Amino acid sequence: MPHADSALIPPGLDKSAFWNHVYEQLGVLLEGQRNWVTNLANASSLIYSSLLAFDPFFGHGERTVNWCGFYLASHLLPSPRLSRPVTSLGDSDGTNRLLLGPFCGKPACQFINTTPGKARGVCADAFLKRETVLVPDVDAYPGHIACDGETKSEIVCPLILNVNGTEVALGVLDLDCLALDGFTEEDKEGLTRIAELIVKACDW
Ligand code: SME
Repeated sequence: MPHADSALIPPGLDKSAFWNHVYEQLGVLLEGQRNWVTNLANASSLIYSSLLAFDPFFGHGERTVNWCGFYLASHLLPSPRLSRPVTSLGDSDGTNRLLLGPFCGKPACQFINTTPGKARGVCADAFLKRETVLVPDVDAYPGHIACDGETKSEIVCPLILNVNGTEVALGVLDLDCLALDGFTEEDKEGLTRIAELIVKACDW
């Protein structure tokens, strides 16, 4: 099967069946590949494309998902400190931040400060709390970072790796929607399972 066909959505699925389908397709897509850059790139594309193809909730007009991607703990990516002074990047020591990873959608902010006491935004909160954060109205969320003024709601799932019984936060999976209340508890459940699958499918 051509890789692009993994984003084809059979008609008639309800939300729960939709997420089960995406989960299964992602499992197949990531098989035999352990590189996290490659897997996160394909995961963001599969989730984004599948949501756009899922008519009942996201296929048309203002309910459309408009961003899907990853922010990763800075130690996993080359540091901008190599090319720019840390002070120009907004955090104090350059270490507590999430950097933009593979994504689908319009350009987004490059890094998110996760320094305790200075952290701001949905991604930082999900990362620091190690919990999925569902935001029905981004304008009502204290500290929300607006990468796209058209975004109305958002969901962010942490990527958690279990290392000998200790939970390590690697980054987050972030989705934005053009409608208020774009995401539900079913999306939270589906995406949390998908985040777990992605973590297990990669070498970190
Ligand atoms: N809204 C996010 C920032 C990332 S963009 O949505 C892609 C936040 O508040 O952390």
